[in-house]
Amino acid sequence: MGTQTRRAVYPGSFDPPTMGHLDIIQRAAQLFDELIVAVAVNAQKRPLFSLEERVEMLRECCAHLPNVRIAALEGLLARFAQQVGACAIVRGLRAVSDFEYEFQMATMNRQLAPEVDTCFLMTHQQYAFLSSSIVKEVARLGGAVDNLVPPNVARKLAERFALQRQEA
Ligand code: PNS
Repeated sequence: MGTQTRRAVYPGSFDPPTMGHLDIIQRAAQLFDELIVAVAVNAQKRPLFSLEERVEMLRECCAHLPNVRIAALEGLLARFAQQVGACAIVRGLRAVSDFEYEFQMATMNRQLAPEVDTCFLMTHQQYAFLSSSIVKEVARLGGAVDNLVPPNVARKLAERFALQRQEA
């Protein structure tokens, strides 16, 4: 057994982070020595929360996990993983419908960085139906999302949509 730090990257949009994401973060943090949650800038998607807000929300959610840190991801994930010396990229799989897109990304990332493996973790079945998009939709229409996102995220969602309603 080597003494090298086993570092992994968990990338995503996290717009906003959900309990499903947190579940994967907690599992991955137990499997690896160090986990870097990489928040993608994602120029194509128009996020509800700015990069800084998403990073801040995740910092709050992960404050109790000493081997987890949050970083911004600009540019290629494969390059980022190499730069930070990660041995793995972690992604959560909810259902078969996730597989095709994930398989495509993992294959591309393997071509770009053959030494970095993609590692899929199964989301807890309680969160198998959950996505950031569905959370945003429900929160926008005034539905309760308290069991679906961490409390600080629920507060941010309520604030954001209250503001949007005022402006409308
Ligand atoms: O939470 P998401 O939106 O499913 O995450 C997608 C993400 C951020 C992992 C993906 O878009 C990504 O890796 N972006 C970084 C840019 C990159 O490397 N793109 C090529 C992926 S093969």
